[in-house]
Amino acid sequence: MCGIVGYVGRKEAAPILLDGIRKLEYRGYDSSGLSVWDGDFSDFKAVGKICELDKKIAGRPIAGRVGIAHTRWATHGRPTEENAHPHLDCSGKIRVVHNGIIENYQALKTSLRDRGHEFISETDTEVIPHLIEEVYDGDIISAVMAVVGMLEGAYGLAIIHADEPDKIVVVKRGSPLILGIGPEEMIVASDAAAVIRYTRDVIYLEDGEIAEIKDSGYRIFDGQARAIEKNIHSIEWDIERAEKSGYPHFMLKEIFEQPRAIEDSIRGRIIAEEGLVKFGGFDAIIDKLREIDRLVIVACGTAYHAGLAGEYMLEEHAGVPAEVEWASEFRYRSPALGPSTAVLAVSQSGETADTLAAVREARARGAFTLGIVNVVGSTIAREVDAGIYNHIGPEISVASTKAFTSQATILALLTVLLGRQRRMTQGAAREILEEIKLLPFKIETILKQSDYIAAIAAKYRDAEHFAYLGRKYNQPTAREGALKLKEISYIHAEGFASGEMKHGPLAMIDEDFPSVFIAPRDSVYEKNLSNMEEIKSRDGRIIAITTEGSNEIEVIADDVIYIPPTLEMLTPILAAVPLQLLAYYIAALNDRDVDKPRNLAKSVTVE
Ligand code: M6R
Repeated sequence: MCGIVGYVGRKEAAPILLDGIRKLEYRGYDSSGLSVWDGDFSDFKAVGKICELDKKIAGRPIAGRVGIAHTRWATHGRPTEENAHPHLDCSGKIRVVHNGIIENYQALKTSLRDRGHEFISETDTEVIPHLIEEVYDGDIISAVMAVVGMLEGAYGLAIIHADEPDKIVVVKRGSPLILGIGPEEMIVASDAAAVIRYTRDVIYLEDGEIAEIKDSGYRIFDGQARAIEKNIHSIEWDIERAEKSGYPHFMLKEIFEQPRAIEDSIRGRIIAEEGLVKFGGFDAIIDKLREIDRLVIVACGTAYHAGLAGEYMLEEHAGVPAEVEWASEFRYRSPALGPSTAVLAVSQSGETADTLAAVREARARGAFTLGIVNVVGSTIAREVDAGIYNHIGPEISVASTKAFTSQATILALLTVLLGRQRRMTQGAAREILEEIKLLPFKIETILKQSDYIAAIAAKYRDAEHFAYLGRKYNQPTAREGALKLKEISYIHAEGFASGEMKHGPLAMIDEDFPSVFIAPRDSVYEKNLSNMEEIKSRDGRIIAITTEGSNEIEVIADDVIYIPPTLEMLTPILAAVPLQLLAYYIAALNDRDVDKPRNLAKSVTVE
């Protein structure tokens, strides 16, 4: 969590830093701050979103061509100005911004205090400038190298020292950091979104690497202080994809981007006539995939729900034993993994701490690791043995939408790939692939119902609880629909397998506890109808999502949203869209901060 930006170059730094942390606000938004050097430091901090920092700075132009900035998601200490970054040492010569957690900060703080250092904040970060102050003897890069040896935990750091104010020193360990290389300027940031306005040329720092950046260039060192050369990558997506393009919220924009996102996820990967799937990232390991006899999917949140849908697809159509685990559990529960087990991490950001730890645990236990990741160059993407990118551009809203449909689509493609290596016939594969190609058009027709879904949202916006119900492929969809609603509206919502209702949850149902049924016309449609009747008999109101033509459902349900017909295994991809819209409109009608819900952040880079 947290976003950091640093700038050194020929332009005024403050507007670039502010623009950068605004782009990173999705990573954390409870307080922010910046420091700019111009013969002395100008420091500004504010509690709340970055607009509060803007207000503090308004009318007080900040001169200076080197500076660092931070937008915070609190881990240690409440969101206050004292706890906002940048943090200082006792001499006031050092400024540090940090993304991550210093796990041994208490011990460091105690010993620093014993040696006379005074602390202003409750943060873990503040130990870093004080440690640098102690070891600094005229060379900031050496001082930082010495200090990182004392730190345990995860960090992306950007540091300025007043005695060497022409440079920023940055360090990466466990938190993402990229260097943007512009003409006569350098920008460092937690994410490419803060960089792309200025340059497309970037270097992804690896764990343990330290860089010194100046307007005239940069130097990068490995963990042993050896100077190293690194490849420069070009960011492929354009600036519009990182901006709202007229939508009131990123979430709505990203929901509407889904037809294009699915197209981008499948482009070049389907050989329809032959019933084959090709992932470039799997070329080198394609034979290894034949030997896999078990697939464990590790993920968190929405990615976990996509994984659940994938589990059903892989077992039913590819005959591959599959299971899904919360990465946060997997990493600690000593999973039994054999050499022919593959562990597949699904992560939009590629930086989720639990998912990354699960990948590392899997590797340590000798498993083969795979990834489905959106953010190019992210840590998970780099650490897995082989991976597939989503190619859906940046997802900014904290609520994940286009990532879910893209992840489920790629899992469907993976099902075909693994299925064809096993028992799936060419004809069966072709049928699935032809349907996958139609998904973007089918999603378009659902999006055309957005006004109708907004009207349904208006009817239910005051409900305090919702049950989301589905069976088989849409049991995961129900859980995803509930997650979407609760995280952006703060309304209590639970996703259940429809068949589980009578084992307990049904007791909650009354006229004030509506249910959202995901009941496409599939192999469990009749079962879902029976479950709906059970809800109806308890005066529960029902919103049903079903397949076009299933009009008989209108007799039972109070409101019905229709999705186009598709293969049963692909129904979660279509059904998720009206659920996203329903959650969005309920939250927007209730004036929630849709893109930045309270207490959350986009990339969960801490445990
Ligand atoms: O970046 P990841 O896909 O690894 O993120 C996983 C979850 O943190 C994420 O899906 C989260 O649950 C979303 N806020 C849900 O909308």
